[in-house]
Amino acid sequence: MSSKATEAPTSFSKGLDGIIAGQSSICFIDGIKGELVYRGINVDDLAVNSNFEEIVYLLWYGKLPKLNELAGFKKELAAERALPEPLISFLKAAPKKALPMDVLRTAVSLLGLYDEEAKDNSIDANWHRAKRLIAKLPTIVANLHTLRMNGDYIKPDASLDHSANFLYMLNGVEPGQMASRTFDCALILHADHEFNASTFSARVTAATLSDLYSAVTSAVGTLKGPLHGGANENVMNMLLAIKTLGNVEGYLAKMFADKKKVPGFGHRVYKSEDPRAKHLRRFSKQLGETIGNLKWYEMSEKIEENVKKEKSLLPNVDFYSASTYHYLGIPTDLFTPIFAVSRVAGWTAHVMEQYSDNRLIRPVSDYVGQHDASYIPIGQR
Ligand SMILES: CC(C)(COP(=O)(O)OP(=O)(O)OC[C@H]1O[C@@H](n2cnc3c(N)ncnc32)[C@H](O)[C@@H]1OP(=O)(O)O)[C@@H](O)C(=O)NCCC(=O)NCCS
Repeated sequence: MSSKATEAPTSFSKGLDGIIAGQSSICFIDGIKGELVYRGINVDDLAVNSNFEEIVYLLWYGKLPKLNELAGFKKELAAERALPEPLISFLKAAPKKALPMDVLRTAVSLLGLYDEEAKDNSIDANWHRAKRLIAKLPTIVANLHTLRMNGDYIKPDASLDHSANFLYMLNGVEPGQMASRTFDCALILHADHEFNASTFSARVTAATLSDLYSAVTSAVGTLKGPLHGGANENVMNMLLAIKTLGNVEGYLAKMFADKKKVPGFGHRVYKSEDPRAKHLRRFSKQLGETIGNLKWYEMSEKIEENVKKEKSLLPNVDFYSASTYHYLGIPTDLFTPIFAVSRVAGWTAHVMEQYSDNRLIRPVSDYVGQHDASYIPIGQR
């Protein structure tokens, strides 16, 4: 037994609530104050002033890039956006009705098969893989949509920034300034969140010294769940089911009576408002005003008011991202894949941090089963 092993584990917390599961210098959350900080910088500051590529650089390397460093980094990422031919064939062949998150999970796994440096486990090769993942996920997500709609495979445009290029591939036309800036901010706000479930599963996979593609595949599968990234799609489906402002109260009263959870509310860590929610609330309102249709924003506001009153619960990142993405014309079942397009920044940063000071992540369970049971031969049971 290792000298570091705990001799008799004593504490148990369901869902690892409140357990410190590792050390990290990437992201800090103050759940009481409602603060989110990437590498020491408050996300409120970053949401207003930064851009997604700069956030990736910050999360990965722990500092803000200088002008020439950012320009070089953007160029490197843009050069990695194209997909290998077999992956394009897979996207074309994938069932049209398949869930985009399932297609994305399989596509990330497939990417690993075509990695030019597959046998190289060096740190440099892993950073190259991380760049490929950041650059290629938007191409996968946009094209899984255009291809299922019987459209063409849209090649990425290296002259556009990360966010503008994604919207271009999705819609076939260059987005306006407001759409690309709003989308970019949404990516900034989703980029990392400490030891959230998908990041933790990426770290657990990496801690076995498995490869980066396996870690990110684990993370995509974990993000899909409705208690995690899948919540943003459920928020939009709820808004669509409610239909009108006048139906909000009745719909929620039934949810409360049936003891159903309202998607987009509550959080394991935040005891005050999720700091990302205020930005997304603002985007939702701004887009609604610009389009001249405040319906989804006003319904969201009313839901927020009701859930606060009845349950004392506050909106999380997924609540106003739903109406924001809807206003941007994004199909609902792409909301969670878009979360992955952003969170892959955090996943890769955390996996590299895990590799840099690794120990197998292997907790113990609190066994509550039977002891001393005897084996009964099959004919006597
Ligand atoms: C985020 C979430 C998974 C956190 O889970 P958790 O820390 O394990 O908290 P719990 O699920 O144990 O919730 C604690 C209590 O609040 C209630 N609650 C939590 N979120 C709720 C919600 N969205 N709607 C209604 N009640 C909720 C639970 O029913 C529970 O009540 P109880 O003690 O009477 O049983 C949970 O709040 C949730 O399921 N939210 C909806 C899904 C969502 O938006 N996920 C995205 C998170 S960013």
